[in-house]
Amino acid sequence: MELLDKDGLTEEEYLAAYRPGDWPRPSVTADMAVFRETAAGWELLLIRRGGHPFLGKWALPGGFCEPGETVDAAAARELQEETSLTGLSLTPVGFFSQPGRDKRTWTMSEGFAAVLPQEGPEPQAGDDAREAAWFQVDSRWKEGMLTICFAGQERFEATLVRDGAYAFSILDAGGLAFDHAHIIARAMEKMGLLQPEPTDYDTLNAQLASLVEGVPHPLANLSNAAALLWNTLGGINWAGFYLLEGGKLVLGPFMGKPACIEIPLQKGVCGAAARTNETELVPDVHAFPGHIACDSASRSEIVIPLRKEGHVFGVLDIDSPLLHRFTEADKEGLEAFARILEKVAADL
Ligand code: SME
Repeated sequence: MELLDKDGLTEEEYLAAYRPGDWPRPSVTADMAVFRETAAGWELLLIRRGGHPFLGKWALPGGFCEPGETVDAAAARELQEETSLTGLSLTPVGFFSQPGRDKRTWTMSEGFAAVLPQEGPEPQAGDDAREAAWFQVDSRWKEGMLTICFAGQERFEATLVRDGAYAFSILDAGGLAFDHAHIIARAMEKMGLLQPEPTDYDTLNAQLASLVEGVPHPLANLSNAAALLWNTLGGINWAGFYLLEGGKLVLGPFMGKPACIEIPLQKGVCGAAARTNETELVPDVHAFPGHIACDSASRSEIVIPLRKEGHVFGVLDIDSPLLHRFTEADKEGLEAFARILEKVAADL
């Protein structure tokens, strides 16, 4: 027997009486943040708008979803129409539904991102786009504010603050159309291209101290220290230790992809830090003679010597896929981290 609802209607009767207009409906759009790797960092593809609103402003390529089309298909179609790029692997980065985000009407937009390798394709503007061009993008945090700098045929900056766990609010759109500064920040974060917020080293180092306190097992302490760094620091792809053994550095406890097993003291960033007994802060590993690339994604690195009675017995090594990831504040905080650890890890 067919089920009847609380008003005594079958499903067919219910659908015949249904009035879609009782629920006001938004338009759905797709906006695409396409990044390309270069020797100097990352570039983002922007279009100059050829129509109102925001006529003449830079924006992400994007547009309206048509009837019978998925939003993913709309994303691929709009990207091709406005920039000529096709066949990209587009990753959803969020659904942007803040009331008032579009002054035309109520729109909700699915944001997408793609990351292309070096020498990515050259775009060609079409449809609503007057121009399509690559802009270098860099990000930095200061006093809780995120600045994203765009450099291409023009230079401008957008400023945002965190608003909830994964979202941002725009303080200054920097001339970008709509809420595209927000979509760009989310896309950069999702694809691992955004500089992380500064680490609170007071808290991190207090956590390390309580983890290792009274633990008489050096290997266990190094292992927990690597795990703590891996789960606390943003924007890294390797964190761990190399220990001096027979005049060479040998791989110790770490988090990240499998790494080189032995490093001679004359080689690499780790070798340099162990040899000189000084921290090595390397903003761009490609510019460091003799850098050993365990993971080709690594772009910057910091290596801190671990000492017993002033003599190096190993190094703490952290890698990042971001250029300029490590600051002087990281150096200071991680050197304090190393000082805590070497008291409980020296006698291996
Ligand atoms: N890059 C290091 C080698 C170790 S991996 O980064 C884990 C170096 O140049 O010494």
